[in-house]
This record gives sequence, C-alpha cells and structure tokens, in this order.
Amino acid sequence: TGESCSYTYEEYKETADWLLTHAKQRPKVAIICGSGLGGLADLLVEKTVFPYAEIPHFPQSTVEGHDGQLVFGELNGKLCVCMQGRFHFYEGHSIAKVTYPVRVFYLLGVDTLIVTNAAGGLNPKFNVGDIMLIRDHINLPGFAGINPLCGQNDDRFGSRFPCMSDAYDRDLLRLAQETAQEQGCAAFLQQGVYCMLAGPMYETVAECRALRILGAEAVGMSTVPEVVLARHCGLRVLGFSLITNKVVTDYESTERVSHNEVLETTRMRTKDLQKLVSNLLSKL
Ligand code: 6GU
Repeated sequence: TGESCSYTYEEYKETADWLLTHAKQRPKVAIICGSGLGGLADLLVEKTVFPYAEIPHFPQSTVEGHDGQLVFGELNGKLCVCMQGRFHFYEGHSIAKVTYPVRVFYLLGVDTLIVTNAAGGLNPKFNVGDIMLIRDHINLPGFAGINPLCGQNDDRFGSRFPCMSDAYDRDLLRLAQETAQEQGCAAFLQQGVYCMLAGPMYETVAECRALRILGAEAVGMSTVPEVVLARHCGLRVLGFSLITNKVVTDYESTERVSHNEVLETTRMRTKDLQKLVSNLLSKL
C-alpha cells in the first residue's frame, strides 16, 4: 500500500540536513537527468559530488558507475543540483522511493525542477531526434493506483488534493522556446503531452493506438511521479522529452524499437539538449 512504503518527514529532513552540512552550495534549481542524459551533470563546475550510496536514506541505483550520484555545482553561472541517474519504477523501487529526491530538493530550498527523459514519439508529426517540451502529462500508473501521493498527506509538503492543471510552468515553457530559437534548434523543438507507463517493456501496437486516442504524444517510463510530488510541494516544473524513436502503430510495419536505438538517438542529441538546459539556466 501507499502507507507501507512511504517515508516520514524526518527522513526527508535528515537527508536534506546532511546534504546542507556537506555541500556549500545552496541551489534554487534541481535537474533530474534521464537515461543517457547524465552528461549534463559533467558540465557543472565547482562541483560537490555525492554517490547515492553515501547519502543517508537516499535510494540506491541499480546501475553502477556515474549514473548514481548527486552533483552540486554551477552550470552557466547558475547554482544547481543534478541527479545523475534517476530511479525507475520498473527497477522494483516503490513509487515513494522513485520520488524521494524531490522532497529532499524542496527541503534544500529548491524552487524549480527541470526533468529530462528519453521517450517514444506517438505524434506522427514528431521526428526521431526532436526535443519535446512537456506541456502536460498523463499519469497512467496513477489511473491504476500507483501514485506517490497515496497514503497519509503531510501538510508540511502540500495539500491533500493538489491542482495538476498547471503542472508545467507556462513561463518556463516560453523561456525554453525562446532559448531554443536563439540557439538555432527551433527546427527540432516540439511541444506535447507525455504519458508515463510503468515499463519495462515497450508498447504493443494496440497500446500505442490506445495512447494516441488518449491524447498522448510521447511515451516513456519515468518523470510523472517526480513531477506530481514536485507540484504537490509547489516547485515550478519544466520538462524535456528527447524523442528517441517513433512508436509502431501499424501491424504491417517491420520496425522494432530497441534499447540500442533509444541510446543511439540519445547520444546524437544529448549535446543540443545540454546546451538548451544550460542556456536556459542563465535566464532563470
Ligand atoms: Cl517507444 N516507449 C516507452 N515506454 N519508453 C520509451 C520509448 C518507448 N522510447 C524511449 N523510451
């Protein structure tokens, strides 16, 4: 149940206080880097790096190496804290674990959350390699009762029934669009609705068709739980989906999505996305 896998306020607080004593930076911006998009954290200067394993109560990555650390530092003159490697529900983490860092960021004094992910393109107008600004989301696991806000509400974080119709900040969206134009990547910038599925398998043809009817334009396996908790505690949210592949909606198609294709496209566009986030930061 939501109750049995939730954390107490004191646990989030202990994590935040530990970080506040071990890091000198006081960032207002937190960035959650999606799979293959952790290179952004390498660009920070004046860094303080904490492997997740060293942070009290912090969830542990199931992947080894660089994709399991929290990086404090400066990016393009702006202080930020970066999650290099996020937690996915399909790894077997509870939804409380997946979202644990968000409340820690809030207690650190962060007011803006930037999220990135790799996603499949459902909107037929999208091309592989497009960067989609997330305008809205569909919390499909939430439809089925998998939601980080289930369980007792802690009013110190937010209200029992939070509004979600303004989940993605309109000013930040506009700023991201402006920034994309200035840096010359408007040609592959899109905007749309991201739908989360638990994963880890990719979708069937019938599922893709169903998602399109629902109004989803990109599909992935992350981000939404973190955004829900971020909005609950009042953080402003900006999200980017890198469209790594086009989903198959036709039984005659011989195309097959693979993790390798997803990784290849991510590599191709990761620098553009890094530049976009970095340029945007200086405007915040
Ligand atoms: Cl096609 N589906 C899902 N669920 N996640 C993805 C994806 C597709 N492509 C990248 N991530």
